[in-house]
Amino acid sequence: MAGQIPQRFIDDLLGRVDVVEVVGERVQLKKAGRNFSGLCPFHQEKTPSFTVSADKQFYHCFGCGAHGNALRFLMEYDKLPFPEAVEQLAGRMGIDVPREGADDPRAQQREKKRKEGVNLLELAANFYRERLKMQEGQPAQRYLANRGLSDDVIKAYGIGYAPAEWEALKLHLNERGISEPVQVEYGLLIHREDTGRTYDRFRDRVMFPIRDLRGRTIAFGGRVMGDDQPKYLNSPETPVFHKGRELYGLYEARQASNKLEQLVMVEGYMDVVALAQYGIHNAVATLGTATTEDHLSRLFRLVSRVVFCFDGDRAGLQAASRALETALPMMIDGREARFLFLPEGDDPDTLVRREGTEAFQNRVTCAMPLSEFLFEQAAQGRDLNTVEGRERFASQVLESLGKVPEGMLKSLLLESLAKRSGLAQEQLKGLLEKRAAKTASQRQAQEEPKSTPGIAPSNEEAQAPARRSTRKQALSPVGRIIQLLLHEPRLVTALPEGDGWLPMSSDGVGSDETRLCRDLLALLRAGRYRSPQVILAHFQGSAEGEQLSALAQRELLISKATRETELAGLVAHLDHVRRQQSPQEEYDALLAQERDGQKLDKAQKQRVKELLVELSQRQQ
Ligand code: UTP
Ligand code: MN
Repeated sequence: MAGQIPQRFIDDLLGRVDVVEVVGERVQLKKAGRNFSGLCPFHQEKTPSFTVSADKQFYHCFGCGAHGNALRFLMEYDKLPFPEAVEQLAGRMGIDVPREGADDPRAQQREKKRKEGVNLLELAANFYRERLKMQEGQPAQRYLANRGLSDDVIKAYGIGYAPAEWEALKLHLNERGISEPVQVEYGLLIHREDTGRTYDRFRDRVMFPIRDLRGRTIAFGGRVMGDDQPKYLNSPETPVFHKGRELYGLYEARQASNKLEQLVMVEGYMDVVALAQYGIHNAVATLGTATTEDHLSRLFRLVSRVVFCFDGDRAGLQAASRALETALPMMIDGREARFLFLPEGDDPDTLVRREGTEAFQNRVTCAMPLSEFLFEQAAQGRDLNTVEGRERFASQVLESLGKVPEGMLKSLLLESLAKRSGLAQEQLKGLLEKRAAKTASQRQAQEEPKSTPGIAPSNEEAQAPARRSTRKQALSPVGRIIQLLLHEPRLVTALPEGDGWLPMSSDGVGSDETRLCRDLLALLRAGRYRSPQVILAHFQGSAEGEQLSALAQRELLISKATRETELAGLVAHLDHVRRQQSPQEEYDALLAQERDGQKLDKAQKQRVKELLVELSQRQQ
């Protein structure tokens, strides 16, 4: 077997190829400032969010987050495994790829470790598949047959059977040199602290391997055949498995079709495989969790349309409205979400069996568009024949609209809202803008403490207004945010997600103050600190600690009720300041920020698009 490719060689190779050239051969690029931009090949879009930097030799998409160097691009775009991508790149330059000697003990050790982790789950999946075919797997085979699954589908989804023994898999893996701690780490083996005993997690269950996009098994779901509880047992979180991110059936859906256009999101393993049995190969399921943003961004990287399937009962409706909320901020132009409500008592599995493929497909095709569901939700329980009803209706829709990124959907929704509510579009637009701006103006009012009712100035403040005002001016917006958070930690929930709204210099680092604010955010969000004293104790003895305690000693001067609005105003202000930078500066700062591992929020991503357009227009 070929040895590892030396890292030196890879570094050297990357130093010689030009990512702009590699990407440019596959994607149409246009110069935009110091970079190139184009339509992202990894998700559907109509305006460019995809950029390639010649200086820094990487590509980055602000829409879907895809990024990497020339090698990564080949792996993702041409769907090449790593060694082949290296071969490809080296081939362009006419050089051979060296391999580390198979007799190098360090290389051997590394190879062994890598294989252990990767292969262990694969070995387990094979083991389960083997067992399904054996005598002991007969009941499981009958179970699967009873549920109408053919051998082809069982094979395509790699379904297997975990025998009703305590140590079958463990012994099997032990024999292959895989240590027990590793088996525990990957969730296959359970270790009892009290007795020190270890035993197989999955026993007497039908086993569904959960695979990543490249088809590698990363976890399992196991179903009992009888009425035992829990009905489904899933792998725990492991180094390779994160429930909130993975989707069952995504790999298989991609295998079944090169050109996926839409994906149908269902609830269960059995729904996915039953649909496949009926020729519907584009269903995926979350793994016993609600739909997360991670799930959606993953799906929208692959297809432009996602159809959510929900039960027709109350719980289903609730889940749908949560999914709607999650989806709203992701609805950039070119993406579409629909909602399919099933008849009460059915799931996709039972329904497709009863009605057949075509009927189910028709339901998917006719699924309710996001906009319709949004309006329906807002109209729920309101009489739209009355002025009050329409007003409430409009205000709820506006609230949702505030989450939708600028674009076609937002305009269409506004237009439609105008029709439905009888309010003029301009007026609605104004209201929407007012909602965003409100916070900023309220902050201004708070600058003047006397106008804020409900709070008595402290003695010191009353006696030394001049000193106070100079001190107050000395506090930067970020400093003020830190101060507010320090006085009232729960306010952290009122801030936008992430920390992309914090000011950032083009090196992507930001000032000490910004860093401190970011640290503070992380601590508060982790939920460990709920009182100013504990926060101060955390930083005790450091420079940050001193900075914080100085801030803590300053009075806030505004009532509790208005602190949240001030905070929003400060964030809006930071946003405004950022917009005053030159487009290239602003762009560089955003890029640096995301490269730094800090996700951009929706508004920032939208801003990147605008900047790209601006920069490429200047180019001409
Ligand atoms: P359901 O109970 O609706 O099961 O759970 P199902 O998919 O219809 O399965 P069958 O038809 O009874 O075989 C839906 C999903 O919720 C998760 C699983 O991912 C399941 O597919 N779940 C359910 C669990 O993780 N654990 C459970 O005990 C039950
Ligand atoms: Mn079911």
